[in-house]
Formats: sequence, structure tokens, C-alpha cells
Amino acid sequence: MDLSAFPYLQGNYAPIDEERDYSEEQLRIEGQVPANLVGAFMRDGPNVAFQPNHYVYPLDGDGMVHAVYFRDGHVEYKNRWVQTSHLMTERKFGRTLYGSVGKLMEVPQEVIDAGGEPNPVRNTANTNVLYHGGKLLAMWEGGFPHLLNNDLSTVGLYDYGGALQPGDALTAHPKICPDTGDLVSCTQRWDSPNYWVQVFDAKGVHKQTIPVEFPRKGIIHDLQITENYIVIFYAPSFHSLEKAMKGEDPFIWEPEKGTRIIAIPRSGSGENMVFETDAFFSWHYCNGFEQGGKIHIDYVWINSIPFTQAQGTGVEKQPRRMYRMTLDPATKQVTNEQFSDVFCEFSRVDERRMGKDYRYGFATCSNRDWGDAHGYNCTGRFDFETGETKLWEYGPEANAGEPVHVPNPDSEREEDGYIMCYVFNPGEGAFLSILSAGDFDNGPVAKIHIPGRVPNGFHANWMQGLCL
Ligand SMILES: [Fe+2]
Repeated sequence: MDLSAFPYLQGNYAPIDEERDYSEEQLRIEGQVPANLVGAFMRDGPNVAFQPNHYVYPLDGDGMVHAVYFRDGHVEYKNRWVQTSHLMTERKFGRTLYGSVGKLMEVPQEVIDAGGEPNPVRNTANTNVLYHGGKLLAMWEGGFPHLLNNDLSTVGLYDYGGALQPGDALTAHPKICPDTGDLVSCTQRWDSPNYWVQVFDAKGVHKQTIPVEFPRKGIIHDLQITENYIVIFYAPSFHSLEKAMKGEDPFIWEPEKGTRIIAIPRSGSGENMVFETDAFFSWHYCNGFEQGGKIHIDYVWINSIPFTQAQGTGVEKQPRRMYRMTLDPATKQVTNEQFSDVFCEFSRVDERRMGKDYRYGFATCSNRDWGDAHGYNCTGRFDFETGETKLWEYGPEANAGEPVHVPNPDSEREEDGYIMCYVFNPGEGAFLSILSAGDFDNGPVAKIHIPGRVPNGFHANWMQGLCL
């Protein structure tokens, strides 16, 4: 593969070409692996199998999951591609057949005639991996999720027992209610501007649909739950499928329209509340909660749409900062304040506090100038009680992934949990970092060093109780 034309396939963004299984003897362990964890840390991400025609980070690339399994202080590692129909079709033909979400390509007739995947939009399955209701799912927001086995082998597309209809695109960012175990999710469609909240119970059975109408299809990536609401941001960012098919820049940003914030009652009855403020974009929420009749949302603010069709033009370097937004249902007033001046992304919390008042947010952060496609070299902790932001730096050239809060099974306290993320540090290699959530001064309590690389990727989760 010649990847020199693709800025976001350089360095630790470059793909790997192997599926690997490493026993504990093949992993080098530094420090002490927590002995009371049973489950798996998994992270999804793009990993192109063939040289792409066009590549819009962070959206393109075949999904690959990297997993570290934990039991009684022992660990093992696996990585696997998600065997999507697009990837399997390309493997059959031995070359790239599909374009990117920024530049779609017509599928060759010979591919369709041979029974290959006819949809020009690649279901990458590259965005998130989640374990809920006993199902392990690799998710991508433009289509159905893929069901995986615990060993990361692919079962196939998953439609929640028929709850998803052809054309439904299930978000890769559902939230799990810690009180009910409900998965609060949503579907959107390429052929409709509307949005449907979809709720699945703790066993993964569909239980509720709440439709929300929009005049125009927006790019809505994440959602946040609070006690009574589902909150979404409707930024003036749009994707035109027609433009993408014509090879034109399909990403549209119309800041004069401002950003609308919609609070949808989780009960399914009552009016949605709509708030309006200056235009901004966000990929990710940190958490949200209600207090004193107001709704607070902590999230990563970006000043405009963070990608374009042109590659390596620098829009990815736009400031990203932790913000706290407060919505007042009585006055419809919005206050939107920067919490920290640290460059950050991929914000997470102790999910036992999801939708509730909490103390700590975590995110991947950068404390150096944003060179071309360098990634993030720190894990950050945002203390919403004291206002302090603390960073643990892995090295000036390191790349640190999304930090996941893994609860300590023997404690209810946020600070007793573990913060896990994959890191690649030149000279040190790839490792799973395990920080103590309560101690960002002394660095990782353990590093599980993985031979070879774990490329930069997207979202990770802790799969409680999942074993091989
Ligand atoms: Fe995301």
C-alpha cells in the first residue's frame, strides 16, 4: 500500500495488516494488573485493508477491534477486523471498490453482477464497540451494527430482532441508563431528515420509539441522557449525499443558522424543549444532569464542522475544549462556558454516574502544538468540583486513545476506578495504560505492553463480565 497521499494514515494512524492473538506470556506487563477485574477492554477504530481511493479522517476505514481480556489479574489480547460485507467484497476482488464518505464512487457493475455489496456507502463498523443485553456490537452511525462473538469473530449485521428497518442507521453513541439498564439510542436515515430516539431494555429488547422531526438532515453524532431528558445538538452542519456522489465536497456549514439544542422528554410525552445559541459543533458529550430545575451538559466544544473533503487542510486542528452548557427551561436561556483551556476529545465518565450529578470527566488531551495529524499525548481529568484539569502525559510524541472509566467492583467511588486507554509512544511501543482515576500524579498503575502497534482509533468500552 502507498499511503503517502493520506495525511490521516501516517504515523500511528497507519493501519496494521495482521490479526493477532497474544497470551499473557507474549505481553510485557509493567506494574500491577488489578486482580478484581473480570471483563474486557475493547476499542474499535478504522484500519484500511486496501489502499483507499480517498480518506476523510475520522470517518473512513474498515473497523478493527482491539481487545484486552482480564480475569483474576491475568490478561490476553486479540485484534480482529469486523467482517463487513464491504470488506468481504473487497477481499474477494483483492482491491478497493468503494469510495469514502467524502467522495462516494459508483460500485462497478461486475461487483454487483458477482453478488458483491451494491451499496456505495461503506458500513465501516469502525466507530464504537459496546456490550449490552448480552450482545457485543461493533457500531457505525450510518447503518446497522455488527454482532460479534466474544472472541471478536463476526456474526453479521444485527437488527435487534427486526426492530431496525432496512435503511435505519443506528447511532454509535447510545447511553446506558444506570438505573434501568436501558440503552437509549437513536436511528436516523439517509433518506429522511428526521430522528428517532430508540430505547432498548436491559436485555436488548426494543421498548420505545420517540420521533423528532427536523426540516433538514443534520450531522448528529452523540446524545446525552439526564434524569428526564434526552439532549441532542442540532448544529448547522449537513452532509449532502448528492454532492458526495458527484465528487463535490458534501460537508456543509451554515453558522448564521446557529446551533439548536433539543431536550426530548424520556417519558415520550410532552413537548420537546428547543434552545438556540451561537453556532458550534460537538462530536462528544461528557455527561449531563438536572439540578435546581436546570439542565447541565458537559461536552467537547468545537467552533465549526471539523472535517472537509480536502485531506490534511487543517480543519482537524480546530480548538476543542471542555464546556459546560446550562439550559434554563423556564427562560429558554442558554449559558455556554469554557471549563478548561486544554485541547481535548473523547470525553467519558464513570458510567454509574451517567445522567446524574458527578465529579470527574476524563478525555484524551494534548499539551503540545497540533502538528500534522499527531493525535493526543495525554489523558486528562476534569474535576467539576474544584475546576481543576489534571493531565498525565505519556510522552511528547505519544498518541493516547479514548480513556474509559472502569469501575472498581469493590467501590462506589468514581476516584477508585481505573482509567484505561491504548497508547502508542515512539520508543516505548504500544500498551494499554491503566491509571488510577483518583491519582493522576503517579502515572499508570500498570502498562500492558503489546508487541507491534495498536493504531489510533475511536471509541472504547469496558465489557463487564465478558470472557473468552
Ligand atoms: Fe464518536
